[in-house]
Amino acid sequence: MDVLIAGFGVVGQGITEAIRDKQELFVKRFGERVRIVGAFDARSLALDPSGLDPDELLQRKQSTSRVGKGEAPDDVEKLLQETAYDLLLEVTPTNIVDGGLGYKHIRTALAAGRHVATSNKGPLALRFRELTELAARNRVHLRYEASVGGAMPVINLSRELLMGEDIISLRGILNGTCNFILHRMKEEGLSFDFALREAQELGYAETDPTYDIDGVDSACKLAILANAIFDRDVTYSDVVRTGIRGITEEAITLAAEQKKVIRLIGEVSRDKLEVAPRLVPAGHPLSIGGTLNIAQMLTDLAGDITVVGRGAGRKETASALLSDLLAILKDEEARREAKCRSMT
Ligand SMILES: NC(=O)c1ccc[n+]([C@@H]2O[C@H](COP(=O)([O-])OP(=O)(O)OC[C@H]3O[C@@H](n4cnc5c(N)ncnc54)[C@H](OP(=O)(O)O)[C@@H]3O)[C@@H](O)[C@H]2O)c1
Repeated sequence: MDVLIAGFGVVGQGITEAIRDKQELFVKRFGERVRIVGAFDARSLALDPSGLDPDELLQRKQSTSRVGKGEAPDDVEKLLQETAYDLLLEVTPTNIVDGGLGYKHIRTALAAGRHVATSNKGPLALRFRELTELAARNRVHLRYEASVGGAMPVINLSRELLMGEDIISLRGILNGTCNFILHRMKEEGLSFDFALREAQELGYAETDPTYDIDGVDSACKLAILANAIFDRDVTYSDVVRTGIRGITEEAITLAAEQKKVIRLIGEVSRDKLEVAPRLVPAGHPLSIGGTLNIAQMLTDLAGDITVVGRGAGRKETASALLSDLLAILKDEEARREAKCRSMT
């Protein structure tokens, strides 16, 4: 399988390392190598139809901050249409105004008959139905496990292993930064501002933390889960949303007196779509601390199923993209076998 990587930041480099390190698995399980035939970032392009050396890409990025020797493509659409590759790994920055760059990349690749796996929330939180229908029309995969909760495999788990279940509702903590802040406020008696500054110093929160603390990031992820698991047709602005800016030390203390903690919880079912701070009994799975993400699904046969994992990070997000890449390889293998059977 030949892959093209759009974006070569934290996640782009993480998936490049995973592809480099998992070649033995690809060959052993599917009898083929996975080659990176192209990669581009904001200012450069590397392209070689016979395959690029992952270490060379990583070293060049580290030493020059450019992934390729060539200039960035001035016509990206043409590049995505005319280059020979099977799978686009779309890992450019999230844009929640109109899906931005990621939306254009994904749409072009799908329309050109290429599979796409992405960690980019924007296009899916805004244009889920349009993109999944485009993928279906072109008989290609659009996979997005990495867009919700890094290494918390809730989408593929619910759509594949739990295919026979009626998933009644899902509740979860979808933003590690907010969870860290609320956890630190409770454990150390910190003010919201102090805990936020600590999260920024540790690199968990951006300099402009709005996206996290106002619940926008959680709302984007919840909208993706609503569409993917509950077959709804929503965008992130349909999510009823309250962030954690207004949480005071007094509210945390009051909750503790009732043996409860405050957590930013996303809730989705067929008729609910909301992100808001909630009181959670101490010791309940959703009272989890630190930067972890968690999703708890209520299903008709299996009852409660809970998934916990690291919501972000280079390796963690690469793990989710890799699971999508492997699912596509598996499906391609099944299609080849079916074709062989029909010819014999
Ligand atoms: N980091 C995580 O843990 C994580 C977890 C889950 C999901 N995500 C999502 O995954 C995506 C990537 O995240 P990241 O952390 O890897 O971001 P990042 O480190 O900021 O990397 C973004 C990459 O996109 C490139 N880029 C920016 N503008 C571009 C343009 N006009 N054309 C081509 N490339 C362009 C950047 O190029 P330069 O390098 O030249 O600036 C950079 O290589 C985002 O949508 C993010 O929300 C991230």
